[in-house]
Amino acid sequence: MHIGKTEGGAPTNAGNLSPGELARTIRQGLGSRSIVMIGLMGAGKTSIGKRLAHRLDMPFSDADQEIERAAGKSINDIFAENGETYFRDGERRVIARLLAEGPKVLATGGGAFMNAETRARIAASSLSIWLRADLDTLMMCVARRETRPLLRSPNPRGVMERLIAERYPVYALADIVVDSRDVAHDVMVEDIVRALQACEKLAPPPLSEVS
Ligand code: S3P
Repeated sequence: MHIGKTEGGAPTNAGNLSPGELARTIRQGLGSRSIVMIGLMGAGKTSIGKRLAHRLDMPFSDADQEIERAAGKSINDIFAENGETYFRDGERRVIARLLAEGPKVLATGGGAFMNAETRARIAASSLSIWLRADLDTLMMCVARRETRPLLRSPNPRGVMERLIAERYPVYALADIVVDSRDVAHDVMVEDIVRALQACEKLAPPPLSEVS
């Protein structure tokens, strides 16, 4: 059967796929590549990434958790005892290791994509998804936890504003941009699934696989 393509590159019959078939199509399109979630603190990279992995039946890893596991201490303690440069070095190495393991959904910390080497590795091995959120949304989400050393400041909102100015132009290099909305995470996941389906970098499945 002939599969036409929309302008965005998605197979035109994709709307008829069941949730399971759609997940399989996306996994096939990814081939050996991973999906990497990027965005600022509070954008929902971990919680939405976890649900996305479940939706696509792929493994999930969280780079920050792996860094904490490798260091045997919390990110707050790494920053306090070893400094940010040490953390960034560990972050770069842990992400390289996780991406070498095979296809997965990987949530990264907000600073990871700012490293040129990590960015190049992600571009070579993955599709990147930027969860873009505005300042108020981010501040509402980060208020829930005290685990972010960069926000331990008398003016966390000012810090976040500066990070938005510095980082958003770089995050914009991501393959896919999805706006974080004030909706259930599962709704965000379906937004991402549709964006993946339409992404021209997602190769269509082999014709033999489509009935
Ligand atoms: C950081 C974000 C954090 C964590 C560290 C530094 C950043 O991850 O890696 O505190 O530079 O933006 P989350 O984005 O998952 O909070």
